[in-house]
Amino acid sequence: MNLEDVRASFGRQASFYANPQSAALFGDPAGLARMVELCAGAPGIRALDVATGTGFTALGLARAGCRVTALDLTRPMLLEARAAARKENIGVEFVEGDSHRCPLRSGSLDLVTCRLAAHHFPDPAAFVRESARVLAPGGRFYLFDISSPEDDTIARWIDDTETLRDPSHVSCWRGATWERLCASAGLRVVHSERPKWRYVMDHWFGRSDMTAEKRARLIERIKAVPSGWREVLSMDFAQDPPGFGTPLVEIVAMRD
Ligand SMILES: C[S@@+](CC[C@H](N)C(=O)[O-])C[C@H]1O[C@@H](n2cnc3c(N)ncnc32)[C@H](O)[C@@H]1O
Repeated sequence: MNLEDVRASFGRQASFYANPQSAALFGDPAGLARMVELCAGAPGIRALDVATGTGFTALGLARAGCRVTALDLTRPMLLEARAAARKENIGVEFVEGDSHRCPLRSGSLDLVTCRLAAHHFPDPAAFVRESARVLAPGGRFYLFDISSPEDDTIARWIDDTETLRDPSHVSCWRGATWERLCASAGLRVVHSERPKWRYVMDHWFGRSDMTAEKRARLIERIKAVPSGWREVLSMDFAQDPPGFGTPLVEIVAMRD
């Protein structure tokens, strides 16, 4: 899938992000507060939120006192984000663009964030390089996303499952990959965690172009997971269909 397809796919999904389950996932107040605590303590810092979607993270940063620019590939997502900002009377600058070729000046920012989006990026190295380029010395890079375990077979299962659900998925890049890319881009990792979670399954199924046939195939696939993988995938067979979650990655890296 190329960037045009990604844009078209999210263009169709934009209004779905207004529902309460999306707000709970992307706008999770505890998650946003944690990001602010890790990275955005001082008021007035210049922040860029990459792949902002409908703006949950960007608005969270702006509420915390940051001066925020929010970048996304997909105009309908940005329109939703702009409307949300206007509703709260929050000033955020919205920019249409690609995370791999950031249209902002080198050294112009104190913080670059990207939450729950980087698994759509085909070239994470270019994204990290661009993030490092736009940061001023002392600036921070914050990444939070779905990820993969070290086991290649489980990692492949996760990516195949995500791609079956949402063809705009590229890869649940591993924490170790992000750490390596940060180091190559001159960013020093100061925080690296692998939290666990579980999807809200209705929301997970609902977030992309879903047919009954595709949903049934996904459920069969999840039910067939080998018992040895259940712990890594946080599987819950008490739910119907069974719940599961990919590992997460949360990284903060500094430009010295
Ligand atoms: C799940 S949404 C992001 C959620 C958002 N970060 C938040 O905190 O609410 C994924 C977004 O990534 C954007 N996206 C995907 N590939 C991109 C790229 N190469 N450059 C910029 N945005 C991209 C899509 O347009 C979509 O709006």
